[in-house]
Amino acid sequence: MWVTTTPLPDKFILKSTIKNLSINSDDCQGFFPGEAVIMGVFSLIFTRIMSKTALKDTRISELVDQNYVHAYVLFYFGIRFYEYSELTLEQVCRQQGLRVEQVIRELESPTHLKEADLPLVSYPIDLIIQYLKHSHFLFIKHKLPYIARLVESFKANHDDYRSVERDLKLVFPLFVEDFIEHIYEEEDTLFHFIQTLDKASRGTFIPTKLYWQFEKNSVQKFAIEHEAHDDEMEGIRKITHDYFIDAQTPLHVKVIYSELKAFEKSLITHARIENEILFPKAMTLENKVKQAFFEKTKFN
Ligand SMILES: [Fe+2]
Ligand SMILES: [Fe+2]
Repeated sequence: MWVTTTPLPDKFILKSTIKNLSINSDDCQGFFPGEAVIMGVFSLIFTRIMSKTALKDTRISELVDQNYVHAYVLFYFGIRFYEYSELTLEQVCRQQGLRVEQVIRELESPTHLKEADLPLVSYPIDLIIQYLKHSHFLFIKHKLPYIARLVESFKANHDDYRSVERDLKLVFPLFVEDFIEHIYEEEDTLFHFIQTLDKASRGTFIPTKLYWQFEKNSVQKFAIEHEAHDDEMEGIRKITHDYFIDAQTPLHVKVIYSELKAFEKSLITHARIENEILFPKAMTLENKVKQAFFEKTKFN
């Protein structure tokens, strides 16, 4: 079965189990009042020991088939899932000199690339920029190199996917190039301008430089250009038929499509934060700083 959700972290499982246990203990008709609770805790410990043993003995291809995020976690431990598909997790860890418990901990609760569920609207603009820059960093340094490796190592070996392999190998590097250019330009121009405005609003600015910045930039212009770049993954969506997978789809294709789909989702969220939170805040800030600046220069 192809499951796309990540496993629940330990603390969540424990919390919900305790909640369930307290319901059970109220209904308990056993000889001892806390019997159900104790049995529940034992069964919880037993299940966790069992699940760790089961994971150790699971073949890499099965682990990835259970959840494509497992392939990403393994990648950052230096394990390319397609190179070890027939070995169990424990065998690969032994070969690679890794502590299997540490890998399991990470598989059960991956710490990579968790998108924070933050109330960004209420954050100061500088913090929103830091958040967006951090997302850029994760895209460029973590997600894209990983997906690029998946695409490079993709061997269709299947008539249905030969053209997909050829097109993806051609188009994905071009997409990455455009994407990186977009990000660097955004940081060097838009973010830099907003940070200048933010500092100016707190009284830190050199009048001639600020004037020059006003002449050169406009948040509204940035916003219009930004909207035009909104659908960067259109080509990839077409090649992959909207990331379509079913039970017959080969494992490597499943992992690539699932990663691309998740990446597109992250990009949409990212662009929404820029369009719906950053730009409106930046426009208000720009007007405020401009007004204060020209008011001040009028009296000089
Ligand atoms: Fe961005
Ligand atoms: Fe952007």
